[in-house]
Amino acid sequence: MNAEPGTRVLTAETASIEAAAACLRAGGLAAFPTETVYGLGADAGNGEAVARLYAAKGRPAFNPLIAHVADLAAARRIAIFDADAEKLAAAFWPGPLTLVLPKRPGSGVADLALAGLDTVAVRVPDHPVAQALLKAFDGPVVAPSANRSGHVSPTDAAHVLADLRGRIDLVIDAGPCTVGVESTIVSCLGEPTLLRPGGLAREQIERVLGHPLATAAVPADDDAPLAPGMLASHYAPKAGVRLDATSPRDGEALLAFGPAPEFSGTTFNLSPRGDLIEAAANLFSHLRALDASGAKNIAVMSVPHHGLGEAINDRLARAAAPKQ
Ligand code: TXA
Ligand code: MG
Repeated sequence: MNAEPGTRVLTAETASIEAAAACLRAGGLAAFPTETVYGLGADAGNGEAVARLYAAKGRPAFNPLIAHVADLAAARRIAIFDADAEKLAAAFWPGPLTLVLPKRPGSGVADLALAGLDTVAVRVPDHPVAQALLKAFDGPVVAPSANRSGHVSPTDAAHVLADLRGRIDLVIDAGPCTVGVESTIVSCLGEPTLLRPGGLAREQIERVLGHPLATAAVPADDDAPLAPGMLASHYAPKAGVRLDATSPRDGEALLAFGPAPEFSGTTFNLSPRGDLIEAAANLFSHLRALDASGAKNIAVMSVPHHGLGEAINDRLARAAAPKQ
């Protein structure tokens, strides 16, 4: 089904939603926008489609995928909710929160999509195109970020095409994503635990739970399946990255936050006014733009660590990790 070499680029209209749903039903790969980043969708119940998805991304097969569904009722068909999970779903779905839950026996999600785990990551995205597609398809859709493995997540359709043109069947172009970083992942397998900081701030989750989130132990091994997505160099631009720079050095490009120092070299600013939400939305596109500018090294100014800053700093630390 992976129509070579063409990848259809569709506008966000009813006929495109129908075409994407039909593509998924036929075992194809359809990229679509969510409020966080663009996802590469496949039928969660079709193991072969899931395998093609891993191949298109070049993703290690031990890394499990998020099952996307239209609403809580659909989520209950594939996962088991405890009281904390119920609270979080009620407060934040649809939205940029993924819950890792025990999988419901007979849920029909392909084992390959779960990388053999008996848990499932579930998300109800808050984007009109994602919602319409999930309703039209009427079943769980696994969707990792629509980039080649090891590249930054795509926040518009051009990013998707740069990585995956000719490797996937279609992409629905609905313009840039509003959140710009991936969903926050919380496991509810006991004490709620933050597995990945993301588009929903930790503080908001803790307010609803009424207590702090546990933080996942740092995985000893980058390839360990428990806290996957924590692969150290997952969010890697080609350029070298120097964090917490106060002023750029000769030959570096600058990724600024807030008021930037005088500098004649290539500069992108995550948010000149120091707004973390704006910075999150710009993060991946600015990293890509800096790579495209030919910069060999990027000096990154420090970003405050509260709110969405935690997710931004997590992605920047990965970008700075030594390349494998
Ligand atoms: O915002 C997002 O979450 C985007 C959009 C498209 O929804 N999706 C996304 O998917 O970021 P992906 O595959 O790039 O990242 C999913 C992360 C991976 O780190 C994966 O290892 C982790 O979720 N994950 C999936 N299932 C898991 C599970 N059962 N237990 C622990 N981690 C899991
Ligand atoms: Mg990803």
